[in-house]
Amino acid sequence: MTDFDRQDYSLETQAIRVGHSRTHEDEHSIPIFATSSYVFASAEQASLRFTGKQAGNIYSRFTNPTVSAFQDRLALMERGERCLAFASGMAAIMAVGMALLKAGDHVLCSRSVFGNSVLAFQNYFGKFGVDTDFVALTDLSAWEAAIKPNTRFLFLETPSNPLIEIADIRALADIAHRHGCLLVVDNCFCTPVLQQPLALGADLVVQSATKFIDGQGRCVGGAVIGNEELIEKDIYPYLRTGGASMSPFNAWVFLSGLETLAIRMKAHCDNAFELAKWLETQPAVAKVHYPGLASHAQHELAKRQQNHFGAVVSFELSGGKEQAWRLIDATRMLSITANLGDVKTTITHPATTTHGRLSPEARAEAGIADSLVRVSVGLEHIEDIKADLLRGL
Ligand SMILES: Cc1ncc(COP(=O)(O)O)c(C=O)c1O
Repeated sequence: MTDFDRQDYSLETQAIRVGHSRTHEDEHSIPIFATSSYVFASAEQASLRFTGKQAGNIYSRFTNPTVSAFQDRLALMERGERCLAFASGMAAIMAVGMALLKAGDHVLCSRSVFGNSVLAFQNYFGKFGVDTDFVALTDLSAWEAAIKPNTRFLFLETPSNPLIEIADIRALADIAHRHGCLLVVDNCFCTPVLQQPLALGADLVVQSATKFIDGQGRCVGGAVIGNEELIEKDIYPYLRTGGASMSPFNAWVFLSGLETLAIRMKAHCDNAFELAKWLETQPAVAKVHYPGLASHAQHELAKRQQNHFGAVVSFELSGGKEQAWRLIDATRMLSITANLGDVKTTITHPATTTHGRLSPEARAEAGIADSLVRVSVGLEHIEDIKADLLRGL
């Protein structure tokens, strides 16, 4: 830890200054520690490190200085005590489940989470005797009613994908704690710049660093952030054994991503808000889903809970799949890809890609219309983004 690892710096300063302890080379930029293991001064020191009686590096599956710098920085930004980095966002989510769940436990999961998170709980934890029920993200009484005596944690994303619904984190943390459960929030749409679930009462945050933290679509990575006890006692032993550690190179990319995250998120959100307002004026657009709009059902909650309204906008066209595909295919600049959180604007048809494995009935129940289009708004000039969409509108 350096002099800069202080809680009282603003998030923007922490994002730039926290985590790097200069080596004897006096480097200004953090180095990539490309080493799989570390050398001990003596057999005794090796033994002390392995038994945990002395802090220090042993092997890069456990700790690595570049990865540790990323962890320290993100922990402070998320207002957590500790962070552990993983090879991907899904590896971070699997780690939470593997570390906290046992046969006979129950998980309560939002119906509107990333498809692989659904599969993780349903197919994999289900295989080992963990039951999962799914509830509507914004229905507080449905969450409370579905909690069972064996519920271990509640799991959600807010805003949700692709309908950008907002969950009341503080209210759900209170519900979870009243029933002796934990609240786990996937914060990858907002990043700590827009929302800090731990400060609102959540127990663990998971991140896909692949998205806005990288910000330029280069590396895959993830993280779990929480208090010392949960991270140290439950998640860290799993990381050592499970082995889905983040590579030092990826941590180095994510560290520089964090340095510009605040200004990028502001620019993403400004562009997205402008695009949402413009889409609402387009005759071919039947409905726009964006929490910055007064028409959004959780507009007031979003204002209270988030620092800005986010970078992802979805909208329904008059018509169906054909109209949505025509709009997508008419773009020349936007990237047709399911990824999000990139400086490049991306466009997706959720009903036939990310949510294509759901039955038409399940999609209808989740509110995902065939005409729905999702845009992760990038940092190109807003007039160029509008012009590209206008071709198909
Ligand atoms: C909300 C959300 N959580 C988690 C993930 C998984 O992250 P990764 O792709 O880094 O494993 C994704 C990926 O798209 C996501 O959108």
